[in-house]
Amino acid sequence: MSAQASAPGKAILAGEHAVVYGKPAIALPLSGIRANAAYRPTGSPLTLIAEDLARPPLVIDTGDIVSSDPLALMAALTMQYFGLESLQGEIRIQSEIPIASGLGSGAAVSAAIGRAIAQLHGTALPNAALNRLVFEVEKQHHGTPSGIDNTVVVYESPVYFEIGGAPAFLEIADPLLVVVADSGIASLTRDAVADVRTLARLAPTQTARVFEDIGAMVNEARQCIEHGNIARLGELMSANHRLLRALDVSAAELDNLVDAAINAGALGAKLSGGGRGGNIIALVDEASAPVVKQGLIEAGATQVMLTVAGQGSQNDDSD
Ligand code: PMV
Repeated sequence: MSAQASAPGKAILAGEHAVVYGKPAIALPLSGIRANAAYRPTGSPLTLIAEDLARPPLVIDTGDIVSSDPLALMAALTMQYFGLESLQGEIRIQSEIPIASGLGSGAAVSAAIGRAIAQLHGTALPNAALNRLVFEVEKQHHGTPSGIDNTVVVYESPVYFEIGGAPAFLEIADPLLVVVADSGIASLTRDAVADVRTLARLAPTQTARVFEDIGAMVNEARQCIEHGNIARLGELMSANHRLLRALDVSAAELDNLVDAAINAGALGAKLSGGGRGGNIIALVDEASAPVVKQGLIEAGATQVMLTVAGQGSQNDDSD
C-alpha cells in the first residue's frame, strides 16, 4: 500500500510582522500549490527522501528530536507523539511551494510529513495536534514565529490569527481573487523578523505606533472580508504595504511589483510574509485579473498565480 499526504502553501493578507508583537493578522491558504509526502511501507527504518529540497536521504529515529534538520525533527516529533521509537517505511517529499519566499513552504512540508507518518502508522492525527507539532519545528528553525503559518497551512482555511487566542476561521462573503507574484528574490523571514526587533528596540514609540496601525487595519480588513467590501479591502492592503515599508521590510523589487499591480488595475497590493524578497499579493476582480497578471510579468515577476479564496473549497489556478 502506498498513498499521499499533503498540505497547502499560504499567503498573508494583512498583519505580518505586527502579529509577532501581539497584533492580529489574516492569512489565506494557497490550495493550488502544495507540499506532498508520498509514503510506502518498507522493511527498513523510516527514511525521508526530499531530493528537490536538496537533502540526502534522512533515516529517522526518535533520537532525531534534537535534529538540526527541520524535516527530521518533524518526523521524530510525530513519532514521539504516537509513542513510537521506530517505524518502517519511506516518505518521499516533493513541494511545489517555492522556498524562502513567504509562501509557507516549511510549515507545509512539516504538515505533510506529520500526516504521512500518521497514515503509515494507521492512526488519525487531529489538526490541533499536528498544528502544535509543526509550530514546534517552526520555533526551532525559524526564530520567533507567531504561529500563523502553521495554523493556516494545517487547517487550510482563511484565518484571523492572534498570538495566544483561538484562531478564527473566516467566512468570506464575496470570493477574494488574489494574484500572487514572486520577485524571485530568496529571503529569510528570520532575518527580517530580527531586523524589526532591532528597529523596535531603537525606535520603540514609532515602531509601536506602526504595529498599532497595522492591527487596526487588520480588524477593518476582517470586516471587509466578512461583509464583501472588496474595494476597501484593497485600500487597506496598499496601506498595509506602506506600513511594512516603514518597518523597512520591503525591497525596491517588491515596491516595483506593488506599483505595477496597482497601475494595471489591482484594488490593492502589498508584500506578503517576511518581506525583503519573496512574494507580493494583489487583490483583483474578474476584469483586472489578466491585466494585473500580465503587468506583473512585464515588471519582472518570476512566477504569477491567481488564487480564489472563499468559494466553498479553495480553488487555485497556477501558471
Ligand atoms: O513565513 P513568512 O515569510 O510568511 O512570515 C510569516 C509572517 C511574519 O509575521 C513575518 C513572521 C511570523 O512568524 O508571524
